[in-house]
Amino acid sequence: MTVLKISEYPAKVLGQVGDAVDVFDDELAQLCEDMFETMYAEEGVGLAAPQVGLSLRLFVMDCAGIKLVAANPRIVGADGEQAGEEGCLSVGKVHSPLKRAERATLRAQDVRGEWYEREAEGLAARCFQHETDHCDGILFVNRLTPLKRNMVLKRFQKLKSWRD
Ligand code: NI
Repeated sequence: MTVLKISEYPAKVLGQVGDAVDVFDDELAQLCEDMFETMYAEEGVGLAAPQVGLSLRLFVMDCAGIKLVAANPRIVGADGEQAGEEGCLSVGKVHSPLKRAERATLRAQDVRGEWYEREAEGLAARCFQHETDHCDGILFVNRLTPLKRNMVLKRFQKLKSWRD
């Protein structure tokens, strides 16, 4: 398995709508394994293909007891509201409060191409929404008010300048 390089804001791939996954072969299975490996190495709870430079509608997650591969994901049900913090490996894990639906139903294909639906609440529901957004070229900072977005991006720039 391979730890892949994380694409960070403002990489163009993060803002693109991913292509549909239409081939469910060994190569896709290997990619998913590498994405899990990368996610664990970075101590994330979800990782989408655009975050490793691939404009594909695909994510992996292991969050609050739900571990899955989601190809061609869609949120087909959402209700309630949760407050709470959200962050992203592509934005240096800088966190900001962001309201999301408390419960969400994900419809997606697994690594073999089988369609499934999965319901979740709380943190796992937040993860469904965050990762599906990535597949649509949306970062969590796009959902923040301009003031909060600027705060997150400034902190991210500062982190990057210390690191590089
Ligand atoms: Ni993210």
